[in-house]
Amino acid sequence: MKILVVGSGGREHALVWKISKSPEVNKIYCAPGNGGTSAIAENVNISSNDIVGLADFAESEMIDLTIVGPEIPLAAGIVDEFYKRDLKIFGPTKKGARLESSKIFAKEFMKKYNIPTADFEVFDNKEKAINFVKKNKGPFVVKADGLAGGKGVFVCNSFIEANDAIKQIMTDKKFGDSGNHVVIEEKLAGEEASMIVLCDGKNILPLVSSQDHKPIFDQDEGPNTGGMGAYSPAPVLESEVFDKTIQTIVKPLMRGIQKEIDTYKGVLYIGLMITKEGPKVLEFNVRFGDPEIQAILPRLKSDLLSIIKAAVEERLDKVELEWDNRACVCVVMASKGYPESYEKGKIITGIGEAEEMRDVIVFHAGTKIKSKELRAKNQELIEYITNGGRVLDVTALGNTIEDAIKKSYDAVNKIHFEDAYFRKDIGGKALKRSFNKC
Ligand code: AMP
Ligand code: GLY
Repeated sequence: MKILVVGSGGREHALVWKISKSPEVNKIYCAPGNGGTSAIAENVNISSNDIVGLADFAESEMIDLTIVGPEIPLAAGIVDEFYKRDLKIFGPTKKGARLESSKIFAKEFMKKYNIPTADFEVFDNKEKAINFVKKNKGPFVVKADGLAGGKGVFVCNSFIEANDAIKQIMTDKKFGDSGNHVVIEEKLAGEEASMIVLCDGKNILPLVSSQDHKPIFDQDEGPNTGGMGAYSPAPVLESEVFDKTIQTIVKPLMRGIQKEIDTYKGVLYIGLMITKEGPKVLEFNVRFGDPEIQAILPRLKSDLLSIIKAAVEERLDKVELEWDNRACVCVVMASKGYPESYEKGKIITGIGEAEEMRDVIVFHAGTKIKSKELRAKNQELIEYITNGGRVLDVTALGNTIEDAIKKSYDAVNKIHFEDAYFRKDIGGKALKRSFNKC
């Protein structure tokens, strides 16, 4: 089969890496890809937002299946365009992608289908939003309605913080039109976890649990990012809570999707807060979590391509997944300054040494190859430079979460680029739980 993976982050490198192991695959393209994907797939210079360009490419190259990584092309209707041309693609339509592209749509949907989530109010007017936070007791979480790369959510512990968040979203338009409306939610207390489920429109197939680390600094301090690290499994989402999440969240969500959304062949990512009252939804995403999937795919023993094919062909009920029982940890190495501004073009060294370690995989996110000539002459001499905020996802499997943490940080310590930044506490919450159990 000829496969096209759309996107250029660590998630897409992980997808390409796993798909490349499938006996059914003959050729993988990645558009536009990154330094890491170019080693196992052919990078194609088409932006992941150029829907028509991607559909033209899939048509002319006779691609058998396209897999979409990021949310922006999904929200813009890439799946609808591919369906129009009778091209096979894995992902929800524009209508389904509203579960992620509009927080208001998602919250109303949850209300309608009795899915547990934080109480909320919606505002299209800055003064009314400010009055609300002035009059009511916080803390609040202020969210831009539309897409903001995971950065449009502000957890506010005071009126001053909430006021500032509303100003950034609605007056300064930090996220453009995504901030035309805000959602103001009650702040939930608990531990977060991610549940990622494959869906073929009729059947659901949950993947193993995982946990992200969204804030930039250790101990969950500082602004939110796209995700600074992840691990799987997440003990907080252990069997009872997992089953409760399926019953109280995933099943009603599926009922809603079948009623309101034409077809949904793609990923449902449910960001959860495990509260004292049970799991509640923080957000829906309509694609694989990044970096959660980097910590999940190394544990998947089954062939990912045949699973995704089954989803597209509405046969997920026939699929059983096989998992590696070991723990997996992914530490994100980022450019200093991320999630705000940062420099690019720093030379990266040590990836090879890290990859020589047993059970270590280095997924590339914001990297590119400095010299293509060098690469053509000798594969070993590839020189990578930084090309984004999140640069590398250093991932390791271990017999215990402790082993996996140690191995991934040992690998991180072999890799260098100027002003590299990474959190030092990835996996810490799982560790704490396992110590508390002893
Ligand atoms: P979201 O993009 O909506 O998942 O929000 C990003 C992050 O903000 C989440 O992963 C949480 O850390 C935090 N967050 C969002 N909503 C809430 C809430 N209602 N209560 C507490 N924290 C929240
Ligand atoms: N890691 C969070 C996300 O993918 O949105």
